[in-house]
Amino acid sequence: MQVTVESTDAARAEADLLALPLFLLEGARRRLPQRLGALDRALGGRLAAALATGDFRGKRGETLLLYPERGAAKRLLLIGLGPESGLDREALRRAMGQAVGAATSGRKAERLAFLVPALGRLRPTPVAEALAEGAHLAAYRFDGYRTRREDAPARVASIALLFERGGDLRAARTGAATGEILASSQNLARDLSNEPANALAPSDLARAAERVAKEAGLSCHVLDVPAMKRLGMGALLAVGQGSRNPPRLVVLQHNAPRRGAARPARRRPTLCFVGKGITFDSGGISIKPAASMHEMKHDMSGAAAVIGALRVAALLRLPLHVVGVLAAAENLPSGDAYRPGDVLRAMSGTTIEVLNTDAEGRLVLADALHYARTQFSPAAIVDLATLTGACVVALGKWSAGLFGNDERLLERVRVAAERAGERVWRLPLWEEHREHIRGDVADIKNTGGRDGGALTAAAFLSHFTEGLAWAHLDIAGTAYTDKPSPCQPRGATGVGVRLLAHLMRDWPSRSV
Ligand code: BES
Ligand code: MN
Ligand code: ZN
Repeated sequence: MQVTVESTDAARAEADLLALPLFLLEGARRRLPQRLGALDRALGGRLAAALATGDFRGKRGETLLLYPERGAAKRLLLIGLGPESGLDREALRRAMGQAVGAATSGRKAERLAFLVPALGRLRPTPVAEALAEGAHLAAYRFDGYRTRREDAPARVASIALLFERGGDLRAARTGAATGEILASSQNLARDLSNEPANALAPSDLARAAERVAKEAGLSCHVLDVPAMKRLGMGALLAVGQGSRNPPRLVVLQHNAPRRGAARPARRRPTLCFVGKGITFDSGGISIKPAASMHEMKHDMSGAAAVIGALRVAALLRLPLHVVGVLAAAENLPSGDAYRPGDVLRAMSGTTIEVLNTDAEGRLVLADALHYARTQFSPAAIVDLATLTGACVVALGKWSAGLFGNDERLLERVRVAAERAGERVWRLPLWEEHREHIRGDVADIKNTGGRDGGALTAAAFLSHFTEGLAWAHLDIAGTAYTDKPSPCQPRGATGVGVRLLAHLMRDWPSRSV
């Protein structure tokens, strides 16, 4: 699908569907905004007529489909944006998502035109960026396994963003190109997360990372079991030992230092992103109930988001040294599996008593976080993990849980999330939570029971990030969904990719 930036007159735009976003008509007003008068006349006047009935008011999310008498477009879709003062990136993404949805569900409108609304205080670059994001996110499908074509939904072939004549089209084109990079990287993360576990074992995840690295120009280094043994990664190895598909630790780098150097030639700040990459989580010996177990193919969504974010860093040539570490393993029960009661020694030397083999995410992250910290001494480290069901109980599927040990970093993550339209909500991490998982047999235990389960899981991770600015995102509730919305079909969301992208883009370049 191609998204172009044009200044064609909307009445002349050849399209199967012309999307016309409108702000809320305040008070009793039912009149067409002046700006659109000429357009409506050129289309035959149905727009003003529709508004006069009061059937369309411009409330956010409202839509109305019309068939214009004249003009070059076959269909006209009115989309409500809500009050003009509330226009933000997310409203633009959603409006575009609704246009794509209307073009493809039950209809076959391949060529779309989208009249960009009056920008107000927004600039053309972020506006085009948000619209392009919305377009590519909404057009996403995971249908590679369907064998009957007629089951596959219709697709949009092209979308023309119609900017006002005299607007800064070059700036808008830059924005549209960035939006395409962000959304396609998020779609890559969705693809990986949606892939079933019989097609995506840890070694496949590593190969996918290598492929992306090659295409985008990243460095990629994969540690196999012997390499992890040499480093003493007893926690990650234990989780993976029950499966025939051996675990992997994958290290992706953007602007990697030259061989032998600890840091890149130009002193750029180093950011580390660590992702939980459990390609399937059965729970292991502490096996999960059957009901939703199939969803646990998504338990590598944190790692998928990290791959997507590194792709963004490379394609946008961001002036940072960015490291992605993926902890990939499959958690299965077998004669070789680790057991409740086992004591593990993590790479950091910390000993861990396993009380529940289903609390495996924190174990693989323990070694990945310690590795990231000691190999790269980053300015900050952010991990993403579908870590706890308790986080879903606490926050539902509406937001990810945000934890950490550094207020400035947490504030940056919060701002990045807002720009990305990804919800995060701060949860506490106190000494009491760390106290709660102190071990009887070993230094720490891998669960603290049901109460505050997301908090004690974060507290567990904090043992492996000491002395470092660290933020942890528990994305168990937001990594996949069964409720489709304008830019989001059922399945993996690719959450985290654009959050990390904004974090990187806004990172001050001289703070090392
Ligand atoms: N991958 C799960 C967490 C999860 C649950 C993600 C639901 C997405 C949706 C994680 O490995 C897990 O099993 N956590 C346990 C921890 C418990 C045993 C302490 C949980 O949340 O029940
Ligand atoms: Mn688990
Ligand atoms: Zn898990």
